[in-house]
Amino acid sequence: MAQAPAPSTDVTAVAEEHATPAWARPDAKMDALIDDLMARMTLDEKIGQLTLLTSDWESTGPTMRDTYKQDIKSGRVGAIFNAYTAKYTTELQRVAVEETRLGIPLLFGYDVIHGHRTIFPISLGEAASWDMQAIEKSARVSAQEASAEGIHWTFSPMVDIARDARWGRISEGAGEDVYLGRKIAAARVHGYQGDDLRATDTVLATAKHFAAYGAAQAGRDYHTVDISERTLRDVYLPPFEAAVDAGVASFMTSFNEYDGVPASGSKYLLTDVLRDKWGFDGFVVTDYTSINEMVPHGYSKNLAQAGEQAINAGVDMDMQGAVYMENLANSVAEGRVDTATIDRAVRRILEAKYRLGLFEDPYRYADAEREKATLYKPEFLEAARDVARRSMVLLRNEGDVLPLAAAAKKIAVIGPLGDSKPDMIGSWAAGGDRQTRPVTILEGLRARAQSGTTVSYAKGASYDFSAAGSTDGFAEALALAGKSDIIIAAMGEKWDMTGEAASRTSLDLPGNQEALLERLVATGKPVVLVLLSGRPNSVEWASKNVPAILHAWYPGTQGGHAVADILFGDYNPSGKLPVTFPRTVGQVPIHYDMKNTGRPIELGAPGAKYVSRYLNTPNDPLYRFGYGLSYTDFAYSPVTLGSTSMGPRGSITASATVTNTGKRAGEEVVQLYVQDLVGSVTRPVQQLKGFEKILLQPGESRTVTFELHPDDLAFTRADMTHGWEPGEFRLWIAPSSGAQASTPVSFTLTE
Ligand code: BGC
Repeated sequence: MAQAPAPSTDVTAVAEEHATPAWARPDAKMDALIDDLMARMTLDEKIGQLTLLTSDWESTGPTMRDTYKQDIKSGRVGAIFNAYTAKYTTELQRVAVEETRLGIPLLFGYDVIHGHRTIFPISLGEAASWDMQAIEKSARVSAQEASAEGIHWTFSPMVDIARDARWGRISEGAGEDVYLGRKIAAARVHGYQGDDLRATDTVLATAKHFAAYGAAQAGRDYHTVDISERTLRDVYLPPFEAAVDAGVASFMTSFNEYDGVPASGSKYLLTDVLRDKWGFDGFVVTDYTSINEMVPHGYSKNLAQAGEQAINAGVDMDMQGAVYMENLANSVAEGRVDTATIDRAVRRILEAKYRLGLFEDPYRYADAEREKATLYKPEFLEAARDVARRSMVLLRNEGDVLPLAAAAKKIAVIGPLGDSKPDMIGSWAAGGDRQTRPVTILEGLRARAQSGTTVSYAKGASYDFSAAGSTDGFAEALALAGKSDIIIAAMGEKWDMTGEAASRTSLDLPGNQEALLERLVATGKPVVLVLLSGRPNSVEWASKNVPAILHAWYPGTQGGHAVADILFGDYNPSGKLPVTFPRTVGQVPIHYDMKNTGRPIELGAPGAKYVSRYLNTPNDPLYRFGYGLSYTDFAYSPVTLGSTSMGPRGSITASATVTNTGKRAGEEVVQLYVQDLVGSVTRPVQQLKGFEKILLQPGESRTVTFELHPDDLAFTRADMTHGWEPGEFRLWIAPSSGAQASTPVSFTLTE
């Protein structure tokens, strides 16, 4: 088997052009202040600035262990996470500012992932909207709420490409695609950071987890990553680079190793790529205790060595491990870490504090009045509802079961997710209220139903793994189904079955849900499956037998209203899958931009042996990347090319006219796919190279034009340089991957 090439040094040879973000422009006043401060800091105080510790949270609110408070007082901690509310952050800030020798303000970080208090759909759900304005808006609202509570810095966006649905953290990213992932990374960074880091309603963003965390073997969280450098560069790194281009202020390292080196000790990733090649100006934090974890990884013989490896590789701040705190001074004394290395890291962190305006006024973000006026603002709740309905994907709608007919007077909501507040907001809704605020599907439907329509509920089944085989609750659910005109089956996964440390070896509906679903369908009543989940599920039986399926992800605080908006037809679904849905876990990893192989299945007669196929399952996925239905229909014209060839400095345009041929207004995500037929290394069968989401009234047509440049066709070539190659290409414009709505057309890229 071919070995993954060792990281080649050419990656560092040429610093690329990356525009300096506005916040990183030179600032002589800042430099003078930091020079003066650093001249007065002891080594221990400097190391304190490199230390990030967590606050705890109890039912009464956030708390700080006494030892931590002592650490703040003695200047041994420069940043705190998991602490929020204006009151509490002010209290901690006061200790740092008034009770430490130098009064350096604390930096407050937090996992504001898909909303802070007002929770939006999980990140994968938002990605399904393919709507950059909506995604940016969600990050903007999150920043407004979080900053009012004293938070300066969010550990988001997670830009890890994820192609393995077993991995629970697939729910936290933007899905499987590099192009979409880049766009979403940029939208989120802009949303959090706005145009001005000093504005008190913006927060620093963090691109995480650097890098290749999504490639964990067998989808098991924290597991080894062993991919080629080409795959790293072409698939996993681009969204991080897009975050740098968007001006992201910080990076977080990942838990995994890459090419035998844990990311928190990887000079290749943290210095050669991030600093030298991309010119990143911000600071790098580790993931939670990931320096410590270099010991069990077998990369460091003890914590002292781990700390040295991390700081020398380019890690500025140690999250929660206290490795720097306990060991770095000694490493400096013994000559294994230079003072200059410490100083550089300290300067980056002080710069972030300065740029936020904390040296002018350390309390400027925490504002009890603003907090009161900001959290759960009606316009934020409305935005959360709007983003939620934009994120939902209609997977099936046989016989136009949806939208619900006015004649459906008795609606049954059945399933463990039909009336479950905690599940609505999904995982990593850290500051979110899980118990009281979320609107359930039952509540949403009841709020929307006209008088004369009843909406009743029976749980019927359980998503607990242990419920498999049980029929408890079926009788009640079937009795309700028998009395109803239509059944809304709300099924899927419990909220914490995705997210961190939530890998599965099966993608099926857990518990006894599918057994109940089969019984519900057998009643002969129309059934709509509303799926709530943070990963692709292998719902093959449902895809053939349940007339309508809506994927609602975990839709957030206003989720129940958003589901009702779609089921009643107040909003026409427009989401498209950002990730491939396999038929069975056995197809994983499966993604739309695979390679052809030397024996593609199409070369053989149906059922032929000795082609690349399974004996027992088709190669095709259940639902393709980019797929999603609408209540209306769209027709695509043939593609027109501006010309059939382009030179090195040229460009080419490709257009198609899309017509709404149905009876309702609707949005369509028009997608451009390209295939590079031959390369110095083999090329994927298709790659997304553009998309546009357009709204069309019934009967309306719009011509969508994409412009491609040679750089859009670049990849890591055989000699490991990045660039395009002359040759033949095919492109097509379509409503999803693989669905060649328009006949592919060819063009040439010439030298
Ligand atoms: C996660 C990060 C998160 C951090 C802080 C870690 O376990 O991997 O994504 O930002 O905790 O809560």
